[in-house]
Amino acid sequence: MAILVTGGAGYIGSHTVAELLAKGEEVVVVDNLYQGHKDAVLGGKLYVGDLRDGAFMDTVFGENNIDAIIHFAANSLVGESMKDPAKYYHNNVYGTLCLLEKMKQYGVSKIVFSSTAATYGEPENVPILESDRTMPTNTYGETKLAMEKMMRWFDFAHGIKYVSLRYFNAAGAHASGSIGEDHDPETHLVPVILQVALGQRPHISVFGDDYPTEDGTCVRDYIHVSDLADAHVLAVEKLRHGGESDIFNLGSGKGYSVNQVIEVARKVTGHPIPAVVEPRRSGDPAVLVASSERARAELGWKPSRDSLEDIVASAWAWHKSRPNGYGDRA
Ligand code: UFG
Repeated sequence: MAILVTGGAGYIGSHTVAELLAKGEEVVVVDNLYQGHKDAVLGGKLYVGDLRDGAFMDTVFGENNIDAIIHFAANSLVGESMKDPAKYYHNNVYGTLCLLEKMKQYGVSKIVFSSTAATYGEPENVPILESDRTMPTNTYGETKLAMEKMMRWFDFAHGIKYVSLRYFNAAGAHASGSIGEDHDPETHLVPVILQVALGQRPHISVFGDDYPTEDGTCVRDYIHVSDLADAHVLAVEKLRHGGESDIFNLGSGKGYSVNQVIEVARKVTGHPIPAVVEPRRSGDPAVLVASSERARAELGWKPSRDSLEDIVASAWAWHKSRPNGYGDRA
């Protein structure tokens, strides 16, 4: 039986494919290569195309014996989603609807879903529990919440079981050095800071220093991408063993401010990394820190790379050895 990984050529998808291959799983990847990279897929079968293309997806389901899906394919930028909500509803919500319809058509009843802390919005409690209120402050989070809710009703009507994994801030790169983060444009804090250390940007822009946090900059919970990948493998196992639908946070439980991340990067890279304070970015909650107790208890998840210094060091090893990422941009 094969696992279909949508968005498997992307950042978190490719690290998950690597873990699945290491476990001896048969892997099929679907990716439209909008953000993904062919070279990020370390094995398995890659189909280049879009989830919303029914004939293409018929080929994928027809040619493979798929029993479970890990669904990453989506747009995932908070800032962009506030400027172009339609893009997020099309790719994320409609894309997921197309996928669920194909699952129903081909009798595939297990899906692990790449969700986000952005579903919570401004949190009621810190750390955030899965049972806390979901009130997204940006279109990206709103579309991911809509996708989760869609899966809930497909479970009710058609018995499609889902595990939704709400990630906090993914960072770092694979220990082998062969895969890492490479987006265009790059907007995530850790890679952008490292681009400054590589001399590719003059400074890091700090988006707001007047938040109600200790140093005034936003606090996030950074988690190593390979720890996230491990959780997907465990979630598939849970569903294969007849597990019910569920939702889990994935984070380290520790929060770091933007200024603290910059400081850690200065230490890791030895570069001064100049910082310039700029206005707030629209849609950013002040503090997002996870409680991942349920993932630990119910999935048996044990994140093992959770010092921020190690996470930044692994990202730095990747960016230093591949300053132009996969080098496949036109
Ligand atoms: N930031 C800066 N300067 C930059 C880039 C980011 O100050 O150049 C700040 C942001 O304002 C934010 C923090 O650094 O406060 C982290 O920003 P990222 O863009 O790296 O990440 P986000 O927290 O916005 O979003 C990420 C993922 C989402 C996910 C979310 C969950 O992109 O998919 O984490 O916390 F939902």
